[in-house]
Amino acid sequence: MDELSGKVAVVTGGASGIGLALAHAFAAEGMKVVLADIEVDALDKAAAELPEGTEVEAVVCDVSDAAQVDALRDRTVERFGTAHVVCNNAGVSSAGPIWLNTLEDWDWCLGVNLYGVINGVRAFTPLLIEQGEGHIVNTASMAGLTSAPGMGVYNVSKHGVVTLSETLHADLALAGATGVGVSVLCPGWVDTRIHESHRNRAGREEREPTEQERGMLEVVGALLAAGLDPADVAAQVLAAVQERRFYVLTHPDWKPMVTNRVERIVAGEEPMIAGLPA
Ligand SMILES: NC(=O)c1ccc[n+]([C@@H]2O[C@H](COP(=O)([O-])OP(=O)(O)OC[C@H]3O[C@@H](n4cnc5c(N)ncnc54)[C@H](O)[C@@H]3O)[C@@H](O)[C@H]2O)c1
Repeated sequence: MDELSGKVAVVTGGASGIGLALAHAFAAEGMKVVLADIEVDALDKAAAELPEGTEVEAVVCDVSDAAQVDALRDRTVERFGTAHVVCNNAGVSSAGPIWLNTLEDWDWCLGVNLYGVINGVRAFTPLLIEQGEGHIVNTASMAGLTSAPGMGVYNVSKHGVVTLSETLHADLALAGATGVGVSVLCPGWVDTRIHESHRNRAGREEREPTEQERGMLEVVGALLAAGLDPADVAAQVLAAVQERRFYVLTHPDWKPMVTNRVERIVAGEEPMIAGLPA
């Protein structure tokens, strides 16, 4: 989609981090913006702080709930007539050895990160196909292309988003829906609040992070703080939508990890363990 001005962008997880930066990037292109998030105060603040003149609709939405994502689509259509660029971006983190994560951890993280994308794709894709134009951006992660230790639930959710997106891309092509593009966003560290995700776990089976998890989240917090500016990520996504690029790997220096993984798979070797000597 090269011409974005006047069109409608929907961004989930739009109240913070990458989603908020995406909203600003789309607003700067003259798009109308629907911001969806579960965190009400942050959502209101984000909507109020978009550039003056931006037509914006803020929708409180838990993306893990299919009915709420359907309602998000309906609200978007009611306010702006349709949607063009749909960013299924909301996400939360997990920490700890995979056997210690509780079923509630799995439900929460897969609910937001994977079902959030499933719900967005199911709710919005028919609309885009029908109008013959649109682009879906699913936020995965480099964790969707590798298997770093200590974040297994997150890794599973993000691998799911990558294959979901690749399959969507293929299904659209086979259905002849040539006007609808897909991108999968796979960043490395980005300077956001993802390590504080438990702030949005309220109302679910709550559990304080264990000491080990807290330690890991602190390490991750330091890595995030030194990470890419979300605005740089948003600029790369914008270009991918305009140029219709599928894979958006924002950290070129992380790519050898993907190559290494694929080479080991094909060679029948053991997977690399990040943090241990190769
Ligand atoms: N920050 C990184 O280093 C990094 C790297 C790779 C991928 N990602 C992915 O980027 C996406 C955005 O995360 P971020 O880093 O900007 O973190 P963030 O915490 O700053 O923003 C995430 C947003 O999602 C919202 N959210 C959480 N649960 C929700 C739910 N159930 N329904 C709706 N909204 C919900 C939060 O309120 C928040 O506004 C996530 O999918 C994340 O996994 C982040």
